[in-house]
Amino acid sequence: MADPTNLDLELERAADLLAGCTHNVVLTGAGISKESGIPTFRGPDGLWTKLGVPAMDGYQKFMENPRGWWEDRLAQDANPDPDMENFRVQLEAAEPNDGHRALAELERMGVVSHVITQNVDDLHRQGGTESLTEIHGNTSWMRCMACHARWPEAEIIVDPEDLPPRCSQCNGVVKSDGVMFGEPIPPYALQRSQLEALQCDLFMIIGTTAQVYPAAEFPQIAVRRGVPLIEIDPDPTALTAIAAVILRGPAGELLPRLVEAVRERQAV
Ligand code: APR
Repeated sequence: MADPTNLDLELERAADLLAGCTHNVVLTGAGISKESGIPTFRGPDGLWTKLGVPAMDGYQKFMENPRGWWEDRLAQDANPDPDMENFRVQLEAAEPNDGHRALAELERMGVVSHVITQNVDDLHRQGGTESLTEIHGNTSWMRCMACHARWPEAEIIVDPEDLPPRCSQCNGVVKSDGVMFGEPIPPYALQRSQLEALQCDLFMIIGTTAQVYPAAEFPQIAVRRGVPLIEIDPDPTALTAIAAVILRGPAGELLPRLVEAVRERQAV
C-alpha cells in the first residue's frame, strides 16, 4: 500500500472530527461553486481581479435614491455590461457540483448541522442543504428593506412607471436580496450565524479567503471557544494559521472523500 500522503492523513483526521462532533457549522465561499463554472472573486481569474472591486458605497447610493437605483438596474438589464452579463449567465446556468451534494450528504449523515454561505448562487439549496443561512443574500430573491420579508424574484412585479417596487406587507422599499457593499447584513442572518458559532463543537471553512466580515468572524468566534477548525481550500486563506486540519484541494474532490471516510466510521 502506498504511503499515505499528508492529505490522506489530514482527511482521516478530519473524518475523525466529523464522526465525533455533535454540532458542526460550515462557512462556504465562492470556491465551492468554482467547479460549477462560477468564478471566484479574488485570485488569478477572480471577478474582482478582472473587473476591479466594486465601489463600497453601493448601498448608500441605493438608500439616497432607490428610484434612481431601480431605473439604472432596468437600464442595465436592457443593455447589460458584457462582463457582468457573462457573470449573470454563469450564475443562471450553474448547477450544484459534487462538493455541494457531498455537503448535503454530510448534513443527512448528521455531521453537518448548519451551513453559512457567502454565496448568492442558490446552489447549496439546489444541492440539497436544508439548514442554511445565505449571509450575503440570494440573487434569485427580492427583499423588503424595512421588514426584511423575502420573495422569489419572479413574484415581485417591477413596474417601470412605479419605482421602486414596494412591499405588500409594510409598503417598504424592495430591492434584490443580494447584500450590497456597505449594506448591513439582515438581522436574521447575523443572529443565526452568531448563534451557530457560539453553539458549535466543530467548524469548517470551505472555498473562502476569509477576508470579508462579518462572515470571517464566525469561525474565529468558534476557535476562540476552543473549537477545532477544518479548512478545505486549494490555497492558504486568512485563517490557515488557526486551522486544526488543512485539506489542500478542490471541494468537489475532497468533500466526497470525506463522506466516504465518515461513512466508514459510522458503519463501525
Ligand atoms: N474548491 C474549494 N475552494 C476553492 C476552489 C475549489 N475548487 N477554487 C478556488 N477556491 C478557493 C480559493 O483558493 C479562495 O480561497 O476559494 C476561495 C475564493 O475566495 P474569494 O474569491 O475571496 O471568495 P469569497 O471568500 O467567497 O469572498 C467573500 O467577498 O466580494 C465579496 O460578496 C463577495 O461573498 C463574497 C465575499
